[in-house]
Amino acid sequence: GVAAKIAPSMLSSDFANLASEAERMLKFGADWLHMDIMVVLLFIHSFLNRHFVPNLTLGAPVIQSLRKHTEAYLDCHLMVTNPLDYVEPLSKAGASGFTFHVEVSKENWQELVQRIKSKGMKPGVALKPGTPIEDVYPLVEGENPVEMVLVMTVEPGFGGQKFMPEMMEKVRTLRERYPSLDIEVDGGLGPSTINVAASAGANCIVAGSSVFGASDPSAVISLLRSSVEE
Ligand code: DX5
Ligand code: ZN
Repeated sequence: GVAAKIAPSMLSSDFANLASEAERMLKFGADWLHMDIMVVLLFIHSFLNRHFVPNLTLGAPVIQSLRKHTEAYLDCHLMVTNPLDYVEPLSKAGASGFTFHVEVSKENWQELVQRIKSKGMKPGVALKPGTPIEDVYPLVEGENPVEMVLVMTVEPGFGGQKFMPEMMEKVRTLRERYPSLDIEVDGGLGPSTINVAASAGANCIVAGSSVFGASDPSAVISLLRSSVEE
């Protein structure tokens, strides 16, 4: 379905108080909690340009700890080069959604989707700003399809970056092609950018700094929701 899902990105939360930060966001009306999982490989790999993002956040042990405190939908965004290695540990830890990047899954996405589903998680595919939208079509149209497409609206790596409006063309194209697909946007979403994203057809909205940095996060969450539902 295309119901609005508002997903605060916990990357902008106080990691030392993750459970109470999560509780606060749910109380403020969040539907999902967006968990950014990034890994930086050894220096030699980054030298060879094998790294996926230049940052390191959290992994299965933290998801497992958070799961003990909440029943919320944990929307995990895997910014890693080898997502297959994380299916088992993340499912054991209690992840709900498992969104991997198409750029690193060209060869094994079928196996990946199958394993994600067999573990009872919701499979999603993400794409970086430079990746053409056509690259995800086979994953949405295959026999064993993904159930969400995440369109990155910043270069993955950090919260607090500027929204890229030119990515809305991808969202519009997807929405025309797949009227009932969950389409998530991630990066730079907030009160000043939600309208273009919602009118392009996005229904799952990740928002980090705009929610956590607000004096009234619940007002921001409500505004995001009403813009999508309009
Ligand atoms: C960036 C992450 C985003 C990030 C969004 O790599 O995927 O989820 O936390 O943060 P804001 O909303 O601050 O751009
Ligand atoms: Zn993310």
